[in-house]
Amino acid sequence: MTAIQRETTDFTLPGSYGLGTTGFWSGANTGLAGCIREAVDQYGLHVLDTAEMYGNGRCESALGKVIRGIPRDKLFLVDKILPEHMNEKDFFSSLHGSLRRLGTDYLDLYLLHWRGEADLSFLAASMEAAVQKGLIRFWGVSNFDEPDLEDLLKVENGDRCYCNQIFYSLYERGSEYSLLPFMKSHGILPMSYSSLGSDYHPHPDIHKNKHIMELCRATGYAPESMMLKMNAAQGFCALFSTFSLLHLRENLRQVPEGVFQQFRTLADAAFPPPDHASPLVKI
Ligand SMILES: NC(=O)c1ccc[n+]([C@@H]2O[C@H](COP(=O)([O-])OP(=O)(O)OC[C@H]3O[C@@H](n4cnc5c(N)ncnc54)[C@H](OP(=O)(O)O)[C@@H]3O)[C@@H](O)[C@H]2O)c1
Repeated sequence: MTAIQRETTDFTLPGSYGLGTTGFWSGANTGLAGCIREAVDQYGLHVLDTAEMYGNGRCESALGKVIRGIPRDKLFLVDKILPEHMNEKDFFSSLHGSLRRLGTDYLDLYLLHWRGEADLSFLAASMEAAVQKGLIRFWGVSNFDEPDLEDLLKVENGDRCYCNQIFYSLYERGSEYSLLPFMKSHGILPMSYSSLGSDYHPHPDIHKNKHIMELCRATGYAPESMMLKMNAAQGFCALFSTFSLLHLRENLRQVPEGVFQQFRTLADAAFPPPDHASPLVKI
């Protein structure tokens, strides 16, 4: 099967960055609002990721308040539906609920959060119906491994799947072996979540690597900004989250190519790419 021709988006997603919003619904995490405004206004970041699951819709509501007043065409809003809502009764009410909480009349990208028991024929048909109604621009999936994508590609319009949002970071590179090449060959855009490996435990800690930290100190770039660039270099739209303006600014600094190549050599030695197939890690 060959990759289908995609409509181009207004933004270049592969190799770009996006801000995640997990935990934003909690009153303690108000710092994200300032990060979102600065990321959009100063850095031209446009991808914002949320889900109906996060705080049971409260995260979408909090995000909706922050983006009020930002021109809609400056944003690329990504939202996710739970697999248990993938049925006649719940699909459109879930989608309309997310739109209402976000205060928008369309999503740029709507994803099935994980496969669960979802009927993939229903998924493709409903998502396409939502596209036809102008409620979403693109649709996709999250946490789909290669066999899941193979199943999806067998159903009618399954090849309209635009994106697969998966866990990928320097600490977990398993998808490089065959999932990523498979997605690329089918024109399915990779988006990485937890790109800094935050929820992945136990994991190695880049801050404990003497050579990498020496390079970071000598050049003044944070290891996190290098890690994000690693994801972008693999073609991912790399999602990260931060409640700190200082971290946001560090992460979005442009790392010069020469510095990045030095980092890459050290990172490949410390966190080697996979040499065998392994199941997709989901967190
Ligand atoms: N599809 C899915 O199943 C799924 C699953 C998980 C996540 N996601 C999405 O992906 C988004 C990002 O993932 P994530 O939130 O799990 O984790 P992440 O981006 O890998 O890591 C976030 C953590 O890194 C810290 N951090 C960020 N920049 C830093 C810096 N320069 N220096 C030191 N620490 C730094 C943050 O702390 P500070 O706040 O202190 O900066 C926070 O604790 C989520 O918000 C969500 O939207 C999707």
